[in-house]
Amino acid sequence: MPTTPLFCRLPGLVFLGLAGLALAIAPSGAAAMPRQDAPAQDAAKPAAPEAKSSTPAKKKAQRAKPARKKGRAVEKNAESDTPPAAAPAGGGLKFSQDVAPILVANCVGCHSGNGVGLRRGKLDLTTFEKLQKGTASHKIIQPGKADESHLVLRVKGEETPRMPQGANRELSDEAIGRIAQWVNEGARLDSGVDPKATLESYASSPEQVRRRQLAKMSPKERDDKVEAAGRARYKQANPKLTPTIVPGDHFMAFSNLPDDRVKNLLKTLETQYGQLHRVLGSSAVDPVEKVGVYIFTTKSDFVEFVRTVESRDLGPDEASTARMGIEHPYVAALDPSGGRKEEPAAKKGRSKSKRGEDSGPERTLPGLVVESFGAGLVEASGKPPRWLSKGLGAYLGSRVEPRSPYYRQLRQTAFTNQEQGWRTKAQAALGETDQATVDDIQAVGFAIVEMLATAEYQRGFSRFVNGLLKGPDKLDDALSSAYQATRDAFLEQTGNWVATSYGRIR
Ligand code: HEC
Repeated sequence: MPTTPLFCRLPGLVFLGLAGLALAIAPSGAAAMPRQDAPAQDAAKPAAPEAKSSTPAKKKAQRAKPARKKGRAVEKNAESDTPPAAAPAGGGLKFSQDVAPILVANCVGCHSGNGVGLRRGKLDLTTFEKLQKGTASHKIIQPGKADESHLVLRVKGEETPRMPQGANRELSDEAIGRIAQWVNEGARLDSGVDPKATLESYASSPEQVRRRQLAKMSPKERDDKVEAAGRARYKQANPKLTPTIVPGDHFMAFSNLPDDRVKNLLKTLETQYGQLHRVLGSSAVDPVEKVGVYIFTTKSDFVEFVRTVESRDLGPDEASTARMGIEHPYVAALDPSGGRKEEPAAKKGRSKSKRGEDSGPERTLPGLVVESFGAGLVEASGKPPRWLSKGLGAYLGSRVEPRSPYYRQLRQTAFTNQEQGWRTKAQAALGETDQATVDDIQAVGFAIVEMLATAEYQRGFSRFVNGLLKGPDKLDDALSSAYQATRDAFLEQTGNWVATSYGRIR
């Protein structure tokens, strides 16, 4: 029974008739896609969770309130990544980039609204204009004279109570130095910034600050950091291991694999990265630094890696993992062929049943790595529902290792969901309710992505994904903006597609 698309008939659109995501989301197509719904670049980026834990944070600041944590990150990044007098090219600090983030993270909470800094200190720090105005009775900044400015004297503790107020809440020397330098340079606002705008509206997040600092480094310096982080993590898995390091354009591989296998892996990753980037468009989180690719050949090493680096136990069928959107992002995997010369290649006829009960579906290393990397990048690029990140990751993997029985199994699971009543099962998976297992979520997500990547639907796909990145509750909005479809039509259409396309593979 042929499926008739109920949606995606956008007037005036010519379908290219190219199967698959690879060609579907070609650069020209992406450019033609209306982009008014593109989410703000950084708004949805999760703060780097590991950034807080992987670098020794100041113990004494650990009891601080959430608002302070941000401040710590600013200071920490500043401490670790900026040489003390690092002025941007052209000299001079920028208020919006160098000072406002410190104030937002450490001061504005108290010096605004109902905060004690405003109520008792009579100092409002919400805007640049108010910062310049000072308290009701006096200014706190003397441009060019840091030693005579209350702002600086307070953060240095030369005037008490020291700011930020509260026990053990000092700013780092670097942060203090930056404020003082900015005052000495004239305490100006950078051009183009509205003095009446809240500092919060333009101050960079700690993650943005970190990225900017990375961007300022030379490629060599950046690579050195990625290499050091990778070596350290590899050591955590097994101190006896010494990986061979092979850099690529956007990745850096750490492994003991034969040379050509590493090269092949990096090449595959680059290709899939390019494709995913086109789908995600401007929402894609850009790692700036190279993504570490840690390959282990022994299960115990991989188990230990996950335990030490991710502080969790490896799942029963898990052979890869990824953390993007953090400091030194990575993807790590256990090589299915145990470091041998060849990929297992998922040869036809070698099915799971032949290999015994407890072995997972056969995979290739590039497939595993691409799947995890893809899911990780989607996750870090916004607030996508799980079915989307997992489904898109699996879809990319299926392009790399199309013959792996793993995808047949995903399709089988999706088909079973269809037989049991797609509407209910898919709703559960999309909404991540208790009725949906992780396997269901993954299989339903994979099926939906596979359908949307076909020629018929590909034109709206990037738009749809971008809509979903805005939040798990954005399905209806994304459907209507990308396909002018209701959820009802979407469920019916996906159900029909799964029934016809996957029915055959039984
Ligand atoms: C926990 C709340 C709190 C935080 C956080 C805080 N302040 Fe204050 N601030 C106060 C209070 C309360 C006062 C009034 C203290 C006094 O002088 O008796 C004050 C006073 C000041 C003054 C003195 C104003 C004057 O009268 O000259 C300055 C300057 C100041 N704060 C700057 C800052 C800066 C800069 C930060 C961040 C680095 C900061 N504060 C963080 C509560 C806070």
